[in-house]
Amino acid sequence: MNRTHTCGELRESHIGNEVTLNGWVQTVRDKGNIIWVDLRDRYGITQFVAEKTSVDENVFKTLQGFGREFVVSLSGKVVARQKGNPNLATGAIEVEVSSAELLNASKVPPFTIEDDTDGGDELRMKYRYLDLRRNPLQKSLKLRHKVSLETRKYLDSVEFMEIETPYLIKSTPEGARDFVVPSRMNPGEFYALPQSPQTFKQLLMVSGYDRYYQIVKCFRDEDLRADRQPEFTQIDCEMAFVEQEDVLNTFEGLVKHLFKTCRGIDFEGNFPRMTYDEAMEKYGSDKPDARFEMTFNNMNSVTQNKGFQVFDNAELVLGIVAKGCADYTRKQLDKLVDWVKRPQIGATGLIYCKVNVDGTFKSSVDKFFDQDAQAEWAKLTGAEKGDLILILCGDTNKVRSQMNELRLHMGTELGLRDPEKFAPLWVLDFPLLELDEETGHYHAMHHPFTSPKKEDIHLLNTEPGKVKANAYDLAMNGVELGGGSIRIHDRELQKLMFKHLGFTDEEAQAQFGFLMNAFEYGAPPHGGLAFGLDRLVATMGGSDSIRDYIPFPKNNSGRDMMIDSPAPIDEEQMQELGIKSIPVTAE
Ligand code: AMO
Repeated sequence: MNRTHTCGELRESHIGNEVTLNGWVQTVRDKGNIIWVDLRDRYGITQFVAEKTSVDENVFKTLQGFGREFVVSLSGKVVARQKGNPNLATGAIEVEVSSAELLNASKVPPFTIEDDTDGGDELRMKYRYLDLRRNPLQKSLKLRHKVSLETRKYLDSVEFMEIETPYLIKSTPEGARDFVVPSRMNPGEFYALPQSPQTFKQLLMVSGYDRYYQIVKCFRDEDLRADRQPEFTQIDCEMAFVEQEDVLNTFEGLVKHLFKTCRGIDFEGNFPRMTYDEAMEKYGSDKPDARFEMTFNNMNSVTQNKGFQVFDNAELVLGIVAKGCADYTRKQLDKLVDWVKRPQIGATGLIYCKVNVDGTFKSSVDKFFDQDAQAEWAKLTGAEKGDLILILCGDTNKVRSQMNELRLHMGTELGLRDPEKFAPLWVLDFPLLELDEETGHYHAMHHPFTSPKKEDIHLLNTEPGKVKANAYDLAMNGVELGGGSIRIHDRELQKLMFKHLGFTDEEAQAQFGFLMNAFEYGAPPHGGLAFGLDRLVATMGGSDSIRDYIPFPKNNSGRDMMIDSPAPIDEEQMQELGIKSIPVTAE
């Protein structure tokens, strides 16, 4: 070993020891007669000091030649620091340099390797290996490592086996586009990369591995956002001989274990549960941020048929109460109106009603609603003196989704979305099918292997939109951390499901025949779920963006800026694969 200690290790108890440390130069402060070098590795920073008068001349010269991010080896004696640095774990000591060796010089890095760096996003992505030297990213990766480790420990302790499944497969219908890989040995044919190992884990249940898990890469070609990457990692799990309750309890146990061991946080009691319908009514979202209240109030009964066309023509009038915001100025309110009118939100307007501290009301529709009418609004929404009621109206789905955005926005503005607070929520009883408004076809809301609720099966032919599924999600802080379902394990029901999804028998057989065939050889009842590991770790770390928790992420156009991928391949390779590239015109 070239080093006796790491840069985060030395304490007062080491005073008097001769040590050798290796690392990267964080800073050099050269005062002419005395030089300080801060040496950094992933464990911490240690301060070295050398005085011209007491160190070998060549050693002093070597130190003078050091620059930021040089890789060096420094030896010397540990001494007490005259003035300790309480912000540094090693702050009680410093090392008096006796020898110094340059292991490798460095060009000046394109951005500072500090907690608050001066580098922009794209630059840091291009030089990800430098960005990864920074403390915040090292902290993220440590958390990720710990979460993976503790996941394995927990699942192993309750008899889950980690089993790998292939990456070169056939389309798995999770609702996104597939990434495809041409097959040289089978010209004109393609593998699809798994959007999840869904069908394989179900086959493993048929094979008798009744508790399976895998920490596994999944690939989805979809539009990217802060919480979406084209390749991401799932903690993918499946269990046989279980009902929904067993799955929920097992994985609530996992999440509690992870928070306890990785963050030192205990959750009291069971995670709250809510049906999908209730989540949509109260929060307009199937992944509510339950850290704060501000739930929706249906105001139809107190707003409609009073002669105000905007309300009368709306399917739904929704109000939320912003506590203590009656003192919002005209300017602040105008800003909110502009905010909801942005194309991303798409509202036509926002109506407000201030419940003044003196008990009077002031709204943007005073012309149509007198004080008594507005008092009814306050009563219905529970608004008190000093509060502000914010109202949106329109078609049910649209207004719910707009109000969800406004609620989250207000939550952020009012500091109600504390990253150190965690509000898990099971969302249950999702609809089985979802109508695609454009095509008029139904598609599976979770995936086609999800079982309908027994009592709703009879509705499949008549009112498919009303059929509920044995499907569940775990939401936390406005993020869908994971989701799963109890599966269909009966060939005939699976066939019926495919029929409702618009597959002909032949199509279903060609695409999923292997699974339906397997169901004829003793398929146990089974169900499971998958967590998004990236989202789980980012949420645990208090961040909305999963990028900082992925060592080598892609940017929003799906590019790896560091290795410059995707990239064209040469003509010869194309020929070998039997493929031709045709120009695609942007839509
Ligand atoms: P689902 O499609 O809900 O279910 O995915 C499970 C979880 O994976 C995470 N996730 C993502 N994370 C980052 N980037 C993405 N593009 C992305 N897409 C999904 C989410 C999500 O909750 N096979 C089923 C699971 C099952 O039924 O057991 C499945 O994949 O956190």
